[in-house]
Amino acid sequence: MGKSISDRTPNAPIGPASQAAFARARAVFPDGTSRATVERDPSPRYMKRGQGAYLYDLDGRRFLDLNNNFASLIHGHAFAPVIEAVARQLKDGSAFANPTETEIELAALLCGRVPFLERLRFVNSGSEAVMFAVKAARAHTGKPGIAKIEGAYHGAYDWIEPSQTGSPENWGLESAPAVLPYYRGTPRAVLDSVVVLSFNHTASACALLAANAHKLAAVVLDPMPSRAGLVTPEPGFLAALAAVARSCGILVIADEVINLRQSHRGASARYGLEPDLFALGKIVGGGLPVGAVGGRAEFMAAFDASRGRPAVAQGGTFSANPLSMTAGLACMNAFDEAACDGLERLGDSVREKLRAAIARRGAPFSVTGAASLFRIHPKRRAPRNYREAHRSAAESEAMATLGRFFADEGILMAHATLASLSTAMTEADIALVVGAFERFLDTRPQAYEALG
Ligand SMILES: Cc1ncc(COP(=O)(O)O)c(C=O)c1O
Repeated sequence: MGKSISDRTPNAPIGPASQAAFARARAVFPDGTSRATVERDPSPRYMKRGQGAYLYDLDGRRFLDLNNNFASLIHGHAFAPVIEAVARQLKDGSAFANPTETEIELAALLCGRVPFLERLRFVNSGSEAVMFAVKAARAHTGKPGIAKIEGAYHGAYDWIEPSQTGSPENWGLESAPAVLPYYRGTPRAVLDSVVVLSFNHTASACALLAANAHKLAAVVLDPMPSRAGLVTPEPGFLAALAAVARSCGILVIADEVINLRQSHRGASARYGLEPDLFALGKIVGGGLPVGAVGGRAEFMAAFDASRGRPAVAQGGTFSANPLSMTAGLACMNAFDEAACDGLERLGDSVREKLRAAIARRGAPFSVTGAASLFRIHPKRRAPRNYREAHRSAAESEAMATLGRFFADEGILMAHATLASLSTAMTEADIALVVGAFERFLDTRPQAYEALG
């Protein structure tokens, strides 16, 4: 059993066992890790196991996990129904070239819940889901281009990567954001077929869509893009974009890889978006790798291989593998309306209490998010889009200090991105988060008082 939060070591650095693991890892990975998103400060914290809302590291320390593997674990770690279902399936085999009944059940569950999700195909990651949604839109419209929101992350596909990391020096006009390569060597042809829109800037975003309609297959919209600030869409923003898209022959792709968890029926339903195609992932796999491309039957017909070569060929060695399907089914069955309502209350509670703590002290922070997601910003006014959420060096440092403070208090919250709740959490966990944040505000004013 690891140490409890009450016997935490104040200012505990990354423990010796994690440091030793990192030293070994540096010999085999380019930077010592196998994903760019792993937090290192200066080395990563290596985990031994997870249980419910908590993680236990190699050094025996216990942490409340606000990351939940990038919001993919809606029920926290080692959720009993998933373990039992997967253990049963594992004995019966882990991957077949043939379909299983479980994939039908999981697909039927999702199509039964999410409006406009009439057909779907399972893949292995959210990136793949986005890529295939884009390809289906291209095949349907015969056009190559993609419009996306500035700062929004949609995974690793060249056409969806640009303009995630712009800064005031290079991001151009807010009414027509620059299309910035994400990696050196991005083909010019890719950048020429991408159009970048500002979130919550309805007039300019609609005008850009209409002006580029001749080359756009789709507009990709995450209803609450996390890296663009985890900002709620202003009323009418998504519907206005969808209306322009529809009138110009551009398909609407909802990227709900993270935000499906926003309601029992998903995020588009919550915010009044009526998509043509969806990209899903994360919670749908119950903690195992998954993605799903779906949407209206008319557009999903692009994948129909029953009469020979389809418009878009989609396969994948591990697509719809029975382990991910079984885990996903157990997870999504338990993510019923009651679970969803509980998470909504917990999310409202943490956001409300964090905001109250900030207001009482007049501290330069704000909180965004909805449902089971929240994000703390080192900004007095809650941002409305990527540019307003963009951090100066001093703001980034303040958030890194906050992240370290939380870790010292036994809470893992990524420095730069969103925090997510799970059904394994209770009001007692929320009290830990709020208490730690209040202690940070009261004892570390030098970390933030110079901010605006
Ligand atoms: C909105 C969104 N789309 C797509 C992806 C890519 O999903 P994956 O990491 O499973 O490839 C992510 C991952 O965080 C995401 O947040």
